[in-house]
Amino acid sequence: MKTLVSYVSVHHGNTEKVATVIASILGADIFPVKQVDAGLLERYDLVGFGSGVYFAKHHKTLLDFVDVLPMMNGKRAFVFSTSGLRRMRFVHDFSKPLRAKLQHKGFDIVGEFSCRGFDSFGATVIVGGINKGRPDAGDLKQAEDFARALRDKWHSGSNVKNHWL
Ligand SMILES: Cc1cc2nc3c(=O)[nH]c(=O)nc-3n(C[C@H](O)[C@H](O)[C@H](O)COP(=O)(O)O)c2cc1C
Repeated sequence: MKTLVSYVSVHHGNTEKVATVIASILGADIFPVKQVDAGLLERYDLVGFGSGVYFAKHHKTLLDFVDVLPMMNGKRAFVFSTSGLRRMRFVHDFSKPLRAKLQHKGFDIVGEFSCRGFDSFGATVIVGGINKGRPDAGDLKQAEDFARALRDKWHSGSNVKNHWL
């Protein structure tokens, strides 16, 4: 499976760390979203899209990128993120807007990964930020496990259990 991992990581480089370990397990090419276009996506069987969470969504650069893509006719995708707060299904399901946009473009989403990332936005600066040191070794190990599960399940055609840490 030829895989591309594309990401936006602008706050502390948190998501780039996750993108890098996922790409390394999958033997994937890895590019910031700004260097990716529809022509490049055509060359891959599986594409990962990830960013930090900003105001309860993936980064606008990533969401805007998906908006201008052509239809993808079932190309497989996975999504990933780092965030200050834990995902909560009904109140803070920050993956939902990206998932909806990808599905609208005809992607088949086969897995999702999320973990905490160091966050020094807004009032958190009073305490020197939250989630210091994250993603940490444990988070990156979970990201590796997620990528291994994606790789192992690829041929069976089944979707990967989501990792929400
Ligand atoms: C402007 C701004 C808005 C943010 N909004 C949220 C948010 O709504 N929910 C959340 O859980 N974290 C939020 N965060 C924290 C980031 O998601 C977190 O630090 C993430 O790991 C940053 O990833 P990056 O370093 O790859 O950009 C926000 C951070 C910034 C700077």
